[in-house]
Amino acid sequence: MAAVVAPPAVVAQKPQVVASTITAMPRLTKAATFVAAGTVAILLSGPPALAADLILGEEVFNNNCAACHMGGNNSVQNEKTLRKSALEQYLAGGFNQDAIVYQVENGKNAMPAWADRLDEDEIQAVAAFVFSQASGDLW
Ligand code: HEC
Repeated sequence: MAAVVAPPAVVAQKPQVVASTITAMPRLTKAATFVAAGTVAILLSGPPALAADLILGEEVFNNNCAACHMGGNNSVQNEKTLRKSALEQYLAGGFNQDAIVYQVENGKNAMPAWADRLDEDEIQAVAAFVFSQASGDLW
């Protein structure tokens, strides 16, 4: 039995091998499918550090930014939302995470600067969160 089980990498790269075992070895196929699905899930979810950043970023956002940017909107200057199209149009430096970091650190017009109120990790995390929400059209 054990000799038939392919290593996960082989299973992931060669789905036809998995398929060919379906009739012969239903129980093994189930296990192999599970391993292959796990491999795909890891590839799609990215490194764990990124997920942690987004969780911190959302917390920082809710505590500091949502007052004016609830739901990705802008209650002070309505057209300057945190959606991708608005960021592409209004954000100095264009639609990218570094440009968001810059605006958070320095502020702009009626938006206060956060460099003295948030630490570097929090600023990077909140920028990653805003960029992720905008990129994925999640607001
Ligand atoms: C007091 C209200 C206020 C708070 C709090 C605030 N902002 Fe803003 N934000 C603004 C205003 C006003 C603008 C538009 C500035 C301009 O271009 O004149 C803006 C613009 C932005 C933009 C660019 C959007 C665009 O379409 O130009 C980003 C990104 C942004 N804010 C992120 C944040 C983040 C992240 C936080 C929390 C750390 C935050 N803001 C907190 C008022 C606020």
